[in-house]
Amino acid sequence: MRDFDEFNITQAVVDRFGDTPDPRLKAVMTSLVWHVHDFIRDVDLSFDEWRSGVDVLTRTGHPCHDTRQEFILLSATLGVSILVDAINHRMPEGATETTVLGPFYVEEAPISELGADISGGLDGEPLFVSGWVRSADGAPLAGATVDVWHADEDGHYDIQQLDALGGLAGRAQFKTDAEGRFHFWSITPTPYPIPEDGPVGEMLKATARHPNRPAHVHFMIAAPGQETLITHVFADGSPWLDSDAVFGVKNSLVVPFVPCPAGEAPDGRRMGRTYNRLAYDFGLKPQRPAA
Ligand code: BEZ
Ligand code: FE
Repeated sequence: MRDFDEFNITQAVVDRFGDTPDPRLKAVMTSLVWHVHDFIRDVDLSFDEWRSGVDVLTRTGHPCHDTRQEFILLSATLGVSILVDAINHRMPEGATETTVLGPFYVEEAPISELGADISGGLDGEPLFVSGWVRSADGAPLAGATVDVWHADEDGHYDIQQLDALGGLAGRAQFKTDAEGRFHFWSITPTPYPIPEDGPVGEMLKATARHPNRPAHVHFMIAAPGQETLITHVFADGSPWLDSDAVFGVKNSLVVPFVPCPAGEAPDGRRMGRTYNRLAYDFGLKPQRPAA
């Protein structure tokens, strides 16, 4: 076939995918072509706009490497990450709500003992974190892996300042005890802007959007027989809870980071200064038995 125009091109491209052996891939490619073509017709895309779209995507790829992921920022700021999360995590009663993974997760965080201080020398107000991990039906999960990571008091993650820090900080993995409990010390994270020095920052500025996220601690919790939970716990009262740049806030994930006076902390540690306390109990969704 020849002579493609704005009316017949879409079906022609879809037909080219007609022999795709994998039915799921065929469905995804067909839908993608229809939606992209309809978007172009809908906004009547100019040639200059098409060129600048190609330029933005090219520059979104350029800064991507192990510790910088501009495509995740683009996905998150367009609400794509939280939409994919919502579709894939319809949670039962008793299971903790999920939210976006984000670009600052590191697969092999240091393994720490319960009660350890994971701040790695970062400055900030001490934070005592504790909680339970249970299955959605209430059964405690002993030996669950609790992977945590958070920003420092200036709003930066360790992997954004590895040269200055000389290693990872503000992240670790723990195993829950026989009753499914965990606790550790770190510093209190603050609200922060997502990186703004790339095309995503340009998009936010051009559209009069702010780049900020409310203060939070990230958790990824895994246990045999349960779906891995990826979530954050947000500080109640933090700015940006109602306008998170990446749409990640859910009411059930917002709790007070309670200011505590100097003295004996819940784990028996003598604190010579004030600190904050974050307590949160997590519920994991049981995996569906294999068909
Ligand atoms: C984060 O909280 O680490 C994050 C999540 C999604 C996009 C950008 C940052
Ligand atoms: Fe974060």
